[in-house]
Amino acid sequence: MGDAAERAGRLRGLIAHHNVAYHGLDSPEISDAEFDQLVAELKALEAAHPDLAVTPPAVGAPPSTAFSEVRHNVAMMSLDNAFTPAELVAWGERLDRLASGASALTLVCELKIDGVAVSLRYEDGRLVRAATRGNGLVGEDVTSNVSTVAAIPQALTPVEGVVPSLLEVRGELYMRRSAFAQLNAERVAAGLPIFANPRNSAAGSLRQKDPAVTASRELHYWAYHLAEVEGLPGLTSHLQTLEYLRRAGLPVNGEIVGVGGLEEATNFCKRWEERRHDLDYEIDGVVIKVDDLAVRSQLGATSHHPRWAIAYKFAPEERNTVLTDIMVSIGKSGKATPFAVLEPVVVSGSTVRLASLHNEAQVRLKDLRPGDTVVVHKAGEVIPEVVGPVLALRPPGLAPWCFPTSCPSCAAPLTRGCGEADTFCTNLECPAQRVQRIAHFASRGAMDIEGLGESRVALLTSLGLLGDVGDIYTLPASRETLPTLDGWGPVSVDNLLRAIEASKAAPLDRLLVGLSIRHLGGSGATVLARAFGSLEALMAASEAELSMLEGIGPKIAASVAGFFGLERNREVIAKLRASGVDPMSPMSPATPVVAQTLTGCSVVVTGTLEGWSREAAEAEIVARGGRSPGSVSARTTAVIAGEGPGAAKLAAAERYGVPVLDEEGFARLLETGEIRGPR
Ligand code: IVH
Repeated sequence: MGDAAERAGRLRGLIAHHNVAYHGLDSPEISDAEFDQLVAELKALEAAHPDLAVTPPAVGAPPSTAFSEVRHNVAMMSLDNAFTPAELVAWGERLDRLASGASALTLVCELKIDGVAVSLRYEDGRLVRAATRGNGLVGEDVTSNVSTVAAIPQALTPVEGVVPSLLEVRGELYMRRSAFAQLNAERVAAGLPIFANPRNSAAGSLRQKDPAVTASRELHYWAYHLAEVEGLPGLTSHLQTLEYLRRAGLPVNGEIVGVGGLEEATNFCKRWEERRHDLDYEIDGVVIKVDDLAVRSQLGATSHHPRWAIAYKFAPEERNTVLTDIMVSIGKSGKATPFAVLEPVVVSGSTVRLASLHNEAQVRLKDLRPGDTVVVHKAGEVIPEVVGPVLALRPPGLAPWCFPTSCPSCAAPLTRGCGEADTFCTNLECPAQRVQRIAHFASRGAMDIEGLGESRVALLTSLGLLGDVGDIYTLPASRETLPTLDGWGPVSVDNLLRAIEASKAAPLDRLLVGLSIRHLGGSGATVLARAFGSLEALMAASEAELSMLEGIGPKIAASVAGFFGLERNREVIAKLRASGVDPMSPMSPATPVVAQTLTGCSVVVTGTLEGWSREAAEAEIVARGGRSPGSVSARTTAVIAGEGPGAAKLAAAERYGVPVLDEEGFARLLETGEIRGPR
């Protein structure tokens, strides 16, 4: 009991501290998920020891002194959380106990927007006050700043000639991902610290002393709750209320749906947990609400949460961990890339130990120092990324990190060209580069030699069996030695040797990719293979001839010509040819199978098309001479949007005035190269 009391006291202290850091100072020290864990632990302790329960600490923070205080007429409550479908079921059972059958009534599912809660008060249709939540009872008056947000109407639109005498609506002020990225880019250019995420940048933009600064930030708002209303009779359900708010001119999110019970609501949660990245704004869960306002009154609220709503929180995508070290890896072209060594942490379902830091400028910009506690998230759900340090937790005296001056593999000096972002080890004999080059040659995108991954290449290189890519084809001579190596059996050696043999006839463009020629990617290699048809013809081409080809810029041309001009590379190629490497010649460019309708065009595909898989659609574009990159820019020719398109891509298309085509438009574009019927 003593231990429980002590732990409960400690938890309350921690919760109060992190509340102030998050709500009051816009400078969270732990992730939302970790905060939720503290609250859940305290709740469980109090449930097990009811005599420990005291009035829970108010969520939120006392108002700061920068803005005047606003006492909320109706408290701005937070929501109870559910982290699993089972917890949603438990919530449904509670509903049914208090109002029989309530969980089978219409429930409204809404996205849980990750922004800042703001209450808007309209008197006789005019916006008279905007306030933050603060501690739920007393917030901050942010009227001047909120008045600069274009999405928030200064006056309500009369609906059927009626304007309510009083209306207080609650909603979330947020920043779109695209605006957040743009703002951070501007801050980088101005040498200012960047915001860690759109929520922080929305909060920071709102809490400005000068409303002109708020006005310069692109903020948006979704209204989701009517707290008070006078002079507007007849609203009996939440869906009806939202429809009214929309007609009155307030922005209401378009993804809100009414469902026929908890099962459908759970499906909505699962669907959006998978699709959350398709939106141009961040969400951290789904809010499920009872639709019927009379049933809501019957259910009432606890001291903190309405019983008629619950927030289903998605699995955390951001976690804190310790950055134990920053190291540098050497790539196939000698590029030195810093990477973070982290105390292992589970993010979005997998353990993260390492994360690329891209280049020195990124490390400096984020001011990452070994020993820092850092925020880690998964960019696009897959790639782990270090967002930034938690400065409040930085141990005193932590030294800034300095980029090494020599290669960690061969100790040769690292160099960076004037005005370049990347640093290189220029020693071609560098063992780390050699391993990367050989492993790249064998990789799926190049010669596709299964069973020759980085660790095996490293082993064979260290044993002196591989010195360059040409040596791969001498490995059959070591048929007797290989099975004796640790972890290699006769079957895997046989498979490897078979894969090596098969690769001798790989297409020319894949061989070119495999040679690790700087700046030459897959599409450039395809152009070269089509234009020259053989290695020998390509090697005989001059830089000027190369740069005349569509899709081969001067940088690539110089790099390719430079590569084949080096005696060392010509030797490796001779070795490959002598071992029987005879790349398949692609079809002659003079007789393309399909008309080159998209030469010079860049076409982005998003969402699911009925008639093509994503890969097939992209292959069709490339086959017609076009490119199909993964993102939309001002140079994009068209965006093809299938079912469930990426919102960020559509937003970018709108911003740059790029036409968006449906599947029919795509078929026409492939056939004729014409853009018609933009949606
Ligand atoms: S309803 C009384 N709906 O999540 C009901 N909240 O703790 C008021 N939030 O403080 C909240 N999206 O800042 C509601 N669609 C949504 C929401 C939402 C985001 C935030 C809000 C609230 C917190 C829950």
